[in-house]
Amino acid sequence: MLAPVSLDRDDKVLDIGIGPGRWIMDLTTSVDSSVPMVAVDIEPRLFPASPPENIEFWIESVTKLPSDWTDAFSLVYQWLLILALQVPQWPQATKEIFRVLRPGGWVQFAESTPWHEGKYPGKLSMEKLAAMYRRIAEARNLYVDCTYDIPKMLEETGFVDIQNESRMQLLGKRAGEISIEKAKNHVGVLRGIKTPVLEAGGYGYATSEAEDAIADALGKEWDKTPGSDEDFIITWARKPLA
Ligand SMILES: C[S@@+](CC[C@H](N)C(=O)[O-])C[C@H]1O[C@@H](n2cnc3c(N)ncnc32)[C@H](O)[C@@H]1O
Repeated sequence: MLAPVSLDRDDKVLDIGIGPGRWIMDLTTSVDSSVPMVAVDIEPRLFPASPPENIEFWIESVTKLPSDWTDAFSLVYQWLLILALQVPQWPQATKEIFRVLRPGGWVQFAESTPWHEGKYPGKLSMEKLAAMYRRIAEARNLYVDCTYDIPKMLEETGFVDIQNESRMQLLGKRAGEISIEKAKNHVGVLRGIKTPVLEAGGYGYATSEAEDAIADALGKEWDKTPGSDEDFIITWARKPLA
């Protein structure tokens, strides 16, 4: 946690788009069990099976949170909605988060930077992946550059004390166990976008077999050579007291 928050029983935490709830479950191990926490996602399928009693789970969208949550939370966390929210949904999300935060409360976002076309000379698979990723994002109106623009969106929403920090994510065997897992995740994402890419005609890059070959080749590129690493940007900001 980079936002300067210390939590006690008078505080309340909201985690948005929790997926399997890794962040909020981890938070419960480091703060008092009297701190109330709320976890929301539009899809409950991955909600943790045996959560601690201080977490409530709700099926809600960040674009329209319950009206009686105004000024309810002292910390709101949102992590990795880069491939979930469409461009016009981002300002809706920042406005809703502003509304549900108490005056003086903090929001923290964590989002990856996107893959950029033309940034991987000599890495054919990486270039194809970056191109497909962009075409999919354009077709679905996703905001894959959101992490660069979050500070501006927060400022326009009324947040203050906006700060951010980058963390480099290394990929592949040369960078150790965690990086091997990250590379597997990314290849999984690529296999996950295979259907929409093919349904859209392949964007000139993919056939079913070709896309599997790209996924395999990517793993090998990441294992052997540096240069495909991604920045992860964590941004935090405060709702003013008055
Ligand atoms: C890539 S996952 C990230 C999960 C989790 N934050 C993590 O990093 O492990 C994106 C999650 O956002 C959820 N999501 C998508 N649109 C949403 C919305 N409008 N409001 C809340 N959650 C949403 C998805 O259902 C999915 O669980």
